[in-house]
Amino acid sequence: MERLSKVMVFSLGLLIRVAVAWSRGPNTQAQVPCFFIFGDSLVDNGNNNDILTLARANYRPYGVDFPQGPSGRFTNGRTMVDILAQLLGFRNYIPPYSVARGAEVLRGLNFASGAAGIRGETGNNLGEHYPLAEQVNHFRSTLQQMKRIFRGNTTRLADYVSKCIFYVGMGSNDYLNNYFMPTMYSTSYDYTPKTYAALLLQDYSRQLTELYDLGARKVAVVGVGQIGCIPYELARYNNRSNKNRTGVQCNETINKAIVMFNTGLVQMVKRYNNELHEAKFIYVNTYESSKDLAANAATYGFDVIDKGCCGVGRNNGQITCLPLQMPCEDRSKYLFWDAFHPTEDANVINAKKAYNSTSPSDVYPMNIQQLALA
Ligand SMILES: *[C@@H]1O[C@H](CO)[C@@H](O)[C@H](O)[C@H]1NC(C)=O
Ligand SMILES: *[C@@H]1O[C@H](CO)[C@@H](O)[C@H](O)[C@H]1NC(C)=O
Ligand SMILES: *[C@@H]1O[C@H](CO)[C@@H](O)[C@H](O)[C@H]1NC(C)=O
Ligand SMILES: *[C@@H]1O[C@H](CO)[C@@H](O)[C@H](O)[C@H]1NC(C)=O
Ligand SMILES: *[C@@H]1O[C@H](CO)[C@@H](O)[C@H](O)[C@H]1NC(C)=O
Repeated sequence: MERLSKVMVFSLGLLIRVAVAWSRGPNTQAQVPCFFIFGDSLVDNGNNNDILTLARANYRPYGVDFPQGPSGRFTNGRTMVDILAQLLGFRNYIPPYSVARGAEVLRGLNFASGAAGIRGETGNNLGEHYPLAEQVNHFRSTLQQMKRIFRGNTTRLADYVSKCIFYVGMGSNDYLNNYFMPTMYSTSYDYTPKTYAALLLQDYSRQLTELYDLGARKVAVVGVGQIGCIPYELARYNNRSNKNRTGVQCNETINKAIVMFNTGLVQMVKRYNNELHEAKFIYVNTYESSKDLAANAATYGFDVIDKGCCGVGRNNGQITCLPLQMPCEDRSKYLFWDAFHPTEDANVINAKKAYNSTSPSDVYPMNIQQLALA
């Protein structure tokens, strides 16, 4: 009798544990066990909330279209990685490293930090943040945490991590908040756009191979968008006299520098796929996506492509969106939320292309959906 009740208690306990695992089991539908994110304010979801920096967005009207309100995301709603997580079948968004605890880390973490760049000094004009090297260190300590959850079984851990998707989108701030800010940084005096791109790629390459050495096998490397066309740059140098009615005159000096960097990035992805055992790297061409968005704005339903929905000054692009400022009424008509960042609707289009476009000019050599299955 006593034995029987013990067995019953045991089975009940097991049943409860299984039930709890199931109800928590956010991955029962996801295409990959976890999703790790490295990047800047384009994908940061709150890692800067508690540090001393101007690169913060946990105040209204940021998040005006996000159910939980302002979270630290630098847009009105979801970021590109929020949408990618949904497309990959995750039930919840990937939590920021700064707040994630316990077994939650098994689904993946978001290490992205506003103002961050590949170079350590990038973004210092805005205050504290976590540059790429620190984000990689955060991943390294996360792996230790995962190892404990896997009871020290490193074989199992390596196998698990090899199935995860890694999203790495870096470089915008190395131009915006470094090279093209000559009053604060000396890089544009020390390097030509070509040698600077080579320098960035060298640093980037070191960090990406570090991720590979730590176990990353499925890596989506995201290029830098058309920074010469964001409201901030249009506001700095453009005015009505050098703009016509049909188009926005982008800053081609900046765009050309970005193209040099992106071209090297594609070469790097090709090289890794040839040289690193079992590596599957893809290049997500956000430069092409942002160009397409601007060129075919009307088709996508955007009326305003040269102004932020929220901001200050010419093109709403001179200062970023301030606390409690009134944003534009209809966000869906704007390509840009503020001087630097796309609206949620623009993020949706970019995420969908990254996820399942079949055009090699959007995703090379395969899309994220294929990467998940690979
Ligand atoms: C580690 O996990 C693998 C597969 O999950 C298993 O085959 C192996 O026996 C485990 N090793 C140890 C030391 O527990
Ligand atoms: C483009 O940006 C560069 C670098 O910030 C600047 O020197 C140049 O004046 C800008 N050109 C135009 C046409 O806006
Ligand atoms: C417009 O830009 C030109 C050259 O870029 C400059 O000379 C002119 O003063 C600007 N006009 C206004 C109203 O800002
Ligand atoms: C207006 O600017 C766009 C973009 O720079 C350009 O493609 C187009 O030819 C220009 N149109 C006219 C009438 O100058
Ligand atoms: C891409 O994914 C979206 C969202 O899941 C879906 O609606 C669309 O049909 C897919 N397109 C292709 C070509 O698979």
